[in-house]
Amino acid sequence: MKRGKFITFEGPEGGGKTTQAKRLIQRLRDAGFEVVYTREPGGTELGEAIRGILQHDAIKEALTDESEVFLFLASRAQLVRNVILPALAEGKIVISDRFADSTTAYQGYGRGFPVETMIAMNAFAIGEAIPDVTLLLDVEISAGFERLAVRQKELFEKADRIEREQREFHERVRNGYLELAKRFPDRYRRIDAGREPHLVEADVWKTVNDVLRG
Ligand code: TMP
Repeated sequence: MKRGKFITFEGPEGGGKTTQAKRLIQRLRDAGFEVVYTREPGGTELGEAIRGILQHDAIKEALTDESEVFLFLASRAQLVRNVILPALAEGKIVISDRFADSTTAYQGYGRGFPVETMIAMNAFAIGEAIPDVTLLLDVEISAGFERLAVRQKELFEKADRIEREQREFHERVRNGYLELAKRFPDRYRRIDAGREPHLVEADVWKTVNDVLRG
């Protein structure tokens, strides 16, 4: 059977990745495709447990930045072997809300670990699971933070550990993604996510159609 397509959503916080991923999945299913949705960190039992540790200070001991990298990678390695590669082998479309590039952008460009090291560690974690297309939902940090603030007010969400980081960190993350888009032009598509959601959705749909046809 022909290998399915692997589509990842990436970008700084506040770009509407989760909303756009869900809308894309709906459109694909309406068009008759079998779609598997995953999110990072998470998507497996181990991954969800790791997500709890990373986002809600579930352990009392302070997490070192190095440990954080390994936790993201452990979650990813599990997701790749147990969910992503089997689904692709069955010809399904896999859509992941964040993937390997999040570690390069956040822990590499954001926290300052060597970018080449993050890329090499990711390569070990993901093996054959290289995305066919990465949709970079790019948004200026000020706009992203406004949207996040509204969301948090609405949902009475507590800002998670990473979202509390200062704005400069998120600027480095955003610029890191733009660097990655330049470095991997074959798989990256930058989409301006500072616009109305329906306009972003239309661009996402067009891009994905090109990939499915190609
Ligand atoms: P989000 O998916 O709701 O945006 O939250 C995930 C958070 O985890 C977000 O702040 C980005 C961060 N993250 C990393 O720092 N490194 C990673 O490898 C991944 C997958 C996420």
